[in-house]
Amino acid sequence: MERLEIEGGYPLQGEVPISGAKNAVLKLMAASLLAENECIIRNVPLIKDVLTMIEVLRSLGAEVSWADHAVLRIVPKKDLGYSAPDELVREMRASVQVMGPLLSRMRKVKLFQPGGCVIGQRPIDLHLKGFQSLGAKVVEEHGYIYVQADKLRGADIHLDFPSVGATENIMAAAILAEGVTVIRNAAKEPEIIEEQNFYNRLGAHIRGAGTDMIRIEGVKALRSIPIDYTVIPDRIEAGTFMLATAISKGEIRLKEIIPEHLESLTAKLKEAGVEVEVKEESIRVKAGKRLRAVDVTVLPYPGFPTDLQPQMTATLALAEGTSLLTENVFSGRFRYVDELVRMGANIRVEGRSAVVKGVPCFTGASVVAPDLRAAAAMVLAGLAAKGKTTVEGVDLLDRGYEKFEEKLASLGARIKRLVTDEE
Ligand code: EPZ
Repeated sequence: MERLEIEGGYPLQGEVPISGAKNAVLKLMAASLLAENECIIRNVPLIKDVLTMIEVLRSLGAEVSWADHAVLRIVPKKDLGYSAPDELVREMRASVQVMGPLLSRMRKVKLFQPGGCVIGQRPIDLHLKGFQSLGAKVVEEHGYIYVQADKLRGADIHLDFPSVGATENIMAAAILAEGVTVIRNAAKEPEIIEEQNFYNRLGAHIRGAGTDMIRIEGVKALRSIPIDYTVIPDRIEAGTFMLATAISKGEIRLKEIIPEHLESLTAKLKEAGVEVEVKEESIRVKAGKRLRAVDVTVLPYPGFPTDLQPQMTATLALAEGTSLLTENVFSGRFRYVDELVRMGANIRVEGRSAVVKGVPCFTGASVVAPDLRAAAAMVLAGLAAKGKTTVEGVDLLDRGYEKFEEKLASLGARIKRLVTDEE
């Protein structure tokens, strides 16, 4: 087991490079299954989920290799498989994002039923309903999902919830369908725009990504041309470093990012009394004094992102006053709170809300992270705590953050990775 040990009390100072967006690149890798020729994807972060997705694509018969540092080369074969290995689907839920491309290309897909996870229920009913609207048959039995379609026809689909994954999977399944598909109440995350751009480079006809209505005009075939695509920076990694600066009362500059992807966080940090200077492609964050309490409502994009909720909660746990955080995206995303309480936080969870009563300080403790973003939140708490904090669950961090502790150490944090002797 690996863990991170943090000596608190060192404000972050300096500049930090932000890696490519995990929640975009995983989908572009899945989308490349639809390509007729070589796909070069640049700015790919070296994180565990990317390595897992490489294995998923290889298991389906695609040729995947690193063309250079942070550059993937993917060449799908004609006769792709249609079922990814169970253990990979079990390991990474994002594997479900191969369903849309495989349904488009192979007209069938079989996948191990993806489990829920520690942040709560994560069904894929909206994905499957979308596939059925396009004319596919869905059978769920023996723990597997079988989707099959002799023909896919365009449809007018309204999502009960603006699900990111469902929007992406339905978009992929509609690209080669006969006729026009409209997805209403679609997710508006920047990652959806990335997929629209990527598919249109392959010859698809998609409009409207980034709004709540996406229109896909089915085409007979995609172009057989190689494409070369650079992924956007990771807004959640960037937001995590902004909050790390706030909680450690430091001053950093984030370069080569897209500031408008972080508008909801920027607004909240300013409201809490943090100095945030936004430039064309960079953000400077400076937090000298204790933050003021603010209320936060997590909502689908462009609302405050659920993937920054744990990090925000940890930061507000040290603010002056009481904050109310309401989580409207995932049903179980406060499970990490007990670990923060062990460090001295005063947080009471009531259903979808957490009442966070600011305390003057945390004391270092040994804590265990239940999921990726909670692990980041605990590291942030350790940056501010008096004394030493050890965070179990580094493997979770490695799934979504590239060189997390190195980047923090380069900003002055006292943090190191320990390999515990007991297995
Ligand atoms: C993506 O998950 C991200 N993961 C998540 O990031 C992110 O938190 C989430 O979008 C919301 O922004 C990837 O992109 C790989 P959803 P996804 O479908 O697509 C319910 C991280 O830490 N729902 O928008 O699974 C669902 O249960 C991860 O990087 C249904 O009920 O999110 C949840 O409550 C965590 N039925 C809500 O919608 C469905 O068919 C949002 O889920 C689909 C979703």
